[in-house]
Amino acid sequence: MVGAVTIRFVVVAPRDVRFERDFLWGTATSAYQIEGGASNTDWWRFERQAGSPVAETCGDACDSWRRYEEDLDIVASLGLDAYRFSLEWSRIEPRRGVVDHEALAHYRRVLEGCRARGLAPVVTLHHFTLPQWVADEGGFESPTIVARMAEYAKVVGAAFGDLIAVACTINEPNIVAAMGYLAAMFPPGVSDQGRYVAVNETLRACHRAMVRALRAGPGDYPIGLTLSMAQYEAVAGGDGPLEDFRREMEDEYLRGVDEDDFLGVQCYTKHLVGPDGLIWGGDGECTDMGYLFWPQVVGYTVRRAAQWTSRPLLVTENGIGTEDDAQRVRYLAAALRSLEDARRDGVDVRGYFQWSLLDNFEWVLGYGPRFGLVAVDRSTFARTAKPSAAWYAEAVRKARRRA
Ligand code: NOJ
Repeated sequence: MVGAVTIRFVVVAPRDVRFERDFLWGTATSAYQIEGGASNTDWWRFERQAGSPVAETCGDACDSWRRYEEDLDIVASLGLDAYRFSLEWSRIEPRRGVVDHEALAHYRRVLEGCRARGLAPVVTLHHFTLPQWVADEGGFESPTIVARMAEYAKVVGAAFGDLIAVACTINEPNIVAAMGYLAAMFPPGVSDQGRYVAVNETLRACHRAMVRALRAGPGDYPIGLTLSMAQYEAVAGGDGPLEDFRREMEDEYLRGVDEDDFLGVQCYTKHLVGPDGLIWGGDGECTDMGYLFWPQVVGYTVRRAAQWTSRPLLVTENGIGTEDDAQRVRYLAAALRSLEDARRDGVDVRGYFQWSLLDNFEWVLGYGPRFGLVAVDRSTFARTAKPSAAWYAEAVRKARRRA
């Protein structure tokens, strides 16, 4: 006799997320790219390795570890709602299991500094860098990495849960994997398809563990990851490679998003894909990253994300690396138009964060491409707002009036 079989469908009920405002207008940075002196990281070491692909060392970056008040004043002066920045894990937990309370006190001052200026702090826990001790354990290939990241998230949640407005667990995990394990341009400098796929899976597990750790702590803020997305377009013979490439870069992540409170979409350009894979640049106007000038990617990617999930979206990064600030204004204007069109068509986007507040350390390209609304003198660290900063502030004022 066959007994009754009960089939249970496990439905993860979406949380009722509350963003602090209807729409968050902001700008974004990351710790390693602006703070300076983050010498206890895998990146610091990678830059100094023999044969390193990194154009120049990060060094003092924008000296924002010391100048963060000035940075926050600038964000507030632009009339924005939110500031997205990241915490440097290697400062918070410089050695395994050792929490640096001075580092926690520092970041608490940054969060309080946001709140004092009426800015919602959007906090990223992992933005590309690992503490050296974590890298030495094997980084994203270590059997302990999921637990380590969850423990770190628990520390962050306990310390700052009362102040965080939005938490991003891992910034662009797909880029961490692609650049670190396929292109060999980020630490650990590996090029291996199998390891790349495995690391992507591990990063998704890390994210889920971090979400659980943050949700178990104080505060009730939306938690999600931020994904690098692009408009991929096949040229002759590129259809199959496009599907393969995008599956690993986007779809495998988008599949899991419904368990989160939101998805952060980060987008810069359109990539062409041919029979041999991704083609850098293309015919037409390019940026100093060598990317096609393709601001309409914002509308494209949020629409694509919305086909996978009904969770709210935040554009957690979008911008252009260029010496030509007039090109930046043209880019932002078109990007915001495409965002507005998508929202008008019902895509649930709750915020837009321009990348970046400051000209900063652009990873393997060093201080070459300039993404900032604000220029930073490389010897005095003096900040000078570019015309695009005033343009963006005015664009935000006008968008609010239209809303
Ligand atoms: C995405 C990354 O999150 C950020 O660190 C980088 O500087 C920008 N894209 C521009 O390339």
